[in-house]
Amino acid sequence: MTTKETVSTESSEYVDIYNDGDTANLRLLINLRNVFSVQLPNMPREYIARIVFDKRHISIIARRNFEVHGGICFRPFPEQKIIEIVFCAVSSKFQGRGIGRRIMDHVKDYVQKREYYDILTYADNKAVGYFKKQGFSKEITIPDKRWKGYLKDYEGGVFMHCHLYKHVNYLDVRKMLQQQKIWLKQVCFKKWKKLPVYKGLDFTGREKIPLSQIDGLKQICNQEFYKKMTLKNELRTLFNYLTNLPDTLIFQEPVDAEDVPDYYTVIKNPMDFSKMKKKLENGEYTEKKLFIHDVHLIIENCKKYNRKETVFYAYGENFEKAFHEKLQSMEND
Ligand SMILES: CC(C)(COP(=O)(O)OP(=O)(O)OC[C@H]1O[C@@H](n2cnc3c(N)ncnc32)[C@H](O)[C@@H]1OP(=O)(O)O)[C@@H](O)C(=O)NCCC(=O)NCCS
Repeated sequence: MTTKETVSTESSEYVDIYNDGDTANLRLLINLRNVFSVQLPNMPREYIARIVFDKRHISIIARRNFEVHGGICFRPFPEQKIIEIVFCAVSSKFQGRGIGRRIMDHVKDYVQKREYYDILTYADNKAVGYFKKQGFSKEITIPDKRWKGYLKDYEGGVFMHCHLYKHVNYLDVRKMLQQQKIWLKQVCFKKWKKLPVYKGLDFTGREKIPLSQIDGLKQICNQEFYKKMTLKNELRTLFNYLTNLPDTLIFQEPVDAEDVPDYYTVIKNPMDFSKMKKKLENGEYTEKKLFIHDVHLIIENCKKYNRKETVFYAYGENFEKAFHEKLQSMEND
């Protein structure tokens, strides 16, 4: 039995060619043009021919003798240190065997050796999945000035970018990843072997079993790091809810002493949402009551500084009410 990879690598040879006037290369380029014309029916045939035979474009092809299995045609922009993939296709009978992937590996190797590290392309909608698997992303991480005005704009295409790394051997990367995967599996397996095995769940007479009562999960729920994580997540949710309540703008940032000169004479323990956010992210709220204490501080300060008939006092009262209602509903959940 042969695997996908052995079929593709045994039967295809990968070469880079361009229209250098060599008859053999021209023959291969004609066959590549035919593959593109069939596989990219929306592209005018003349346009494909013009690009493939253009001396500035290079093609990396998978072939067996003069039979072309597929290829990628690209144009390097030496000043910009980028390359643009213009066409990419594999003949139908060779698709799904890893040939498209191998051609792309060779393109990466070719450009990396020439110290280009950024590949751009307008991907056909149907081929976006293929490009993603080859490391392309819709996020363009190079500045506009490196590519704008240089590339051909294709209507309906998805603009994608792939950044290459200097020290990765792209022709060997799959083997390396496979080895890492095997190693990782072995490490995990060794660890798993040490873990206790619990009895299965007994659902007799029960509809639901709380997570915290399931053996294995029970032990994790009791672990310190888990408690910390769940507390932080719970407080984050509560914090987001509070900061998005109406009329809480006055609590978002510290009171500016220039706007309210006597504020810090009256209020000795100021508190606001920005300060709470920092504490939350720094893990200073090791217990829920510390968080609640700071919310109360915001409310007390508001009610202490502002007179009862002011709108600010009313904001403080509304906030207090909404906060206690939320706490109550969280406890009931
Ligand atoms: C897109 C194309 C070049 C892929 O070539 P291929 O030889 O069939 O691809 P491979 O067998 O090497 O597949 C590589 C990986 O991409 C995936 N893939 C291939 N085509 C895909 C597609 N259209 N959508 C999503 N994933 C795709 C494969 O599942 C495989 O995934 P794996 O690594 O997890 O196994 C080929 O299908 C083709 O010529 N299509 C028609 C022309 C076209 O659309 N070209 C792109 C123009 S921008």
